[in-house]
Amino acid sequence: MKYLCSNCKMFQYDEDKGDKETGLLPGTKVENIPHSWKCPVCGVSKSYLEPLDKKISKEETIKDLTYYRDISREMLTGFCGVYPVCDGDPDHICTGQKYGAPIGLGGAGQAKTFEANYKALQQYRLKMRVIKAHHEPEMSVSIFNKTLDIPIMGAALSGVKSSLKDAIPENDFYWGLLKGAQSSGTIGMVGNTPTSPEDLGVKVIGENLGWGIPFFKPQSQEKLIRLFKMAENLDVVAIGVDLGGAGSTFWVTPEKRVYRKSENELQELVDCTKKPVIFKGIMNPQDALKVLDSGASACYVSNHGGRVLDCGQGVAEVLPEISKEISGKIPILADGTVRTGFDVLKVLALGADVALIGRPLARMSIAGGEKAVKMYFDYVKDDLRRAMILTGCNTLQDAKMNILDKAQFH
Ligand SMILES: Cc1cc2nc3c(=O)[nH]c(=O)nc-3n(C[C@H](O)[C@H](O)[C@H](O)COP(=O)(O)O)c2cc1C
Repeated sequence: MKYLCSNCKMFQYDEDKGDKETGLLPGTKVENIPHSWKCPVCGVSKSYLEPLDKKISKEETIKDLTYYRDISREMLTGFCGVYPVCDGDPDHICTGQKYGAPIGLGGAGQAKTFEANYKALQQYRLKMRVIKAHHEPEMSVSIFNKTLDIPIMGAALSGVKSSLKDAIPENDFYWGLLKGAQSSGTIGMVGNTPTSPEDLGVKVIGENLGWGIPFFKPQSQEKLIRLFKMAENLDVVAIGVDLGGAGSTFWVTPEKRVYRKSENELQELVDCTKKPVIFKGIMNPQDALKVLDSGASACYVSNHGGRVLDCGQGVAEVLPEISKEISGKIPILADGTVRTGFDVLKVLALGADVALIGRPLARMSIAGGEKAVKMYFDYVKDDLRRAMILTGCNTLQDAKMNILDKAQFH
């Protein structure tokens, strides 16, 4: 079968002939091309190769976000309804008690925390303000000694086997997340899951020449320090520990155990590496101050998308009080039902420096890899630009509480 790179529209790949220049032997099927492969003309990954000689129906030729959303709905049948709004609605198939079965893309318990994330963020509305000299919004942000095009990152994701219906290999999933973020001018994160080697994510970041952030579960200090060293040697951008992972429903076997961490243990982790360290799972100002004291390079406000503690607070409820304590002293990352560029602006106004997206990128990575993930970032970026123009924000520093109003009717 023959393929065309849909990015440059120049490179053609014929499976029968292979491609000598990029080391593909004759007979190499597209699914067997390594995910680190790059188009020799424009440098994008294999997810851009599209069948050339397939009879494609009119609808199929438009590979937009709707197309990839439909593909992911098919791939996740029974796990995720891929609803128009991914909000932890109690009627969605991912929510409700699972009695110990994997939670898929839903939340812990009855998914009340997942729902609280959405409700808490949606109670804020953006104030429209259009009479002001036009200024093209400045969206770039500097963090971890890097400059990103957008104040948005991909949240750490893992667990295709347990949470995403084993739809694609775990390393391909990571690759789509990392490359999609990179080609959108930002950074992707990957997690770790008990069903894959604990260092798989960091190794895939290594293949991507270090462009990515691995998040490790709060395992024993000994294991974490070993993983931190490995990440440092692979020259990753930063290293994260998801402290909320102490309540993971997956890390429950004697070999794969997770723990709560003390102030001293945080300090030990920060001190064991020269790389910036991020602590995630912070949901109150006291913990945020402890992260600051540990010397970490970022405080990540998150309840893990409602996947660990049920009946918890929504991120938008706690973000302003956390920001009040630590803003300007340490960068603040935040996630939790961020779906659009409008949501990003609200999260920034509530006190974050960077907003992160989880579930939508998981669906994009399984359905279309790098290309679909990039498309999602681009969509969010376009709306963020529009939201900044329409709320009178010229720079990200203009995104403050005064651009928000709390709805009375919810
Ligand atoms: C399928 C799935 C897997 C996840 N795996 C991890 C992980 O391995 N490590 C981690 O720190 N967070 C993990 N998370 C949490 C996300 O990083 C993020 O905090 C959360 O998804 C944000 O909420 P949102 O999905 O509503 O955007 C996972 C989330 C999902 C949905």
